[in-house]
Amino acid sequence: MDIQFRQVGYTYQPHTPFAYQAIRNINLSISSGEYIAVVGHTGSGKSTLLQHINGLLVPTEGEVHVGDFLLSNDNKRQDLRKLREKVGIVFQYPEHQLFEETVERDISFGPHNFRVPKEEIEQRVIRSMEKVELPTDILNKSPFELSGGQMRRVAIAGVLAMEPEVLILDEPTAGLDPKGQYDIMDMFYQLHQSRQMTTILVTHQMDQALKYADRIIVLANGEVHMEGNPEEIFSKTKQLQEVNLDVPEVLTLIDDFNHRFDGSIRYHRQSIAELAKEIVDHFRENKRL
Ligand SMILES: Nc1ncnc2c1ncn2[C@@H]1O[C@H](COP(=O)(O)OP(=O)(O)OP(=O)(O)O)[C@@H](O)[C@H]1O
Ligand SMILES: [Mg+2]
Repeated sequence: MDIQFRQVGYTYQPHTPFAYQAIRNINLSISSGEYIAVVGHTGSGKSTLLQHINGLLVPTEGEVHVGDFLLSNDNKRQDLRKLREKVGIVFQYPEHQLFEETVERDISFGPHNFRVPKEEIEQRVIRSMEKVELPTDILNKSPFELSGGQMRRVAIAGVLAMEPEVLILDEPTAGLDPKGQYDIMDMFYQLHQSRQMTTILVTHQMDQALKYADRIIVLANGEVHMEGNPEEIFSKTKQLQEVNLDVPEVLTLIDDFNHRFDGSIRYHRQSIAELAKEIVDHFRENKRL
């Protein structure tokens, strides 16, 4: 499903003394199958923007198109159920939304609501648990008896069990330990690749945006400040500094290395171990010269 924002603005509590315009003049096109990272300082409007994609928020100005769905201020009566079936959101701290008595019921809640047949739900629950590396012997446990990391995985499994076409991830790994973050981010990336799932990630970690995204959208004060592929975005150091964002360390390292040792190493999403090997190879080759 292609996604388009046309001149979109959103004001919280409009026509009241508390009215606050969180996003404005947003024009964006996201093609089916893309992996997008949305970055920007706190309060820049990232979560507000994303909640328009499954109709949790309807624009107060402009239009949002998601596949055949049109969301606009004067088109409020659409059946958003079908849209929500196709667009899954993993919120910040999704475990706060767990509420069922057992893990199994929590993960099956979405598919059950959308009337997926029972046998199919059972299979989806198992498949989703495998994806997030949860053991199936916790199926009958209360989600509230689990560790924080396990609760997060249950919540994510619940979204995956919907088998959405578009997956929105609003800081899905905030607060997890580094290994947990890495495992979950890699799992999302594999899903994106194997199912061509459109993936939109909000993150404060620039290294995640660099590693996974085809394209990065930088928001500042509710507007699009920059947009482009990771290489373009992170080469514009000054524009990033204007909105207090950093260049990922790995890029600074490669840049420094190339300057100091006359190298020609390029970033191509290599791991740290692969990068170390390229550095060693550089010195080996130069010795031979
Ligand atoms: N329900 C609400 N009512 C009024 N204002 C809101 C509401 N939710 C968000 N805002 C305001 O809208 C602006 C954008 O908020 P939003 O949550 O989209 O930012 P964000 O970029 O996701 O920030 P963070 O990185 O902290 O999650 C903020 O100034 C916020 O205070
Ligand atoms: Mg947010």
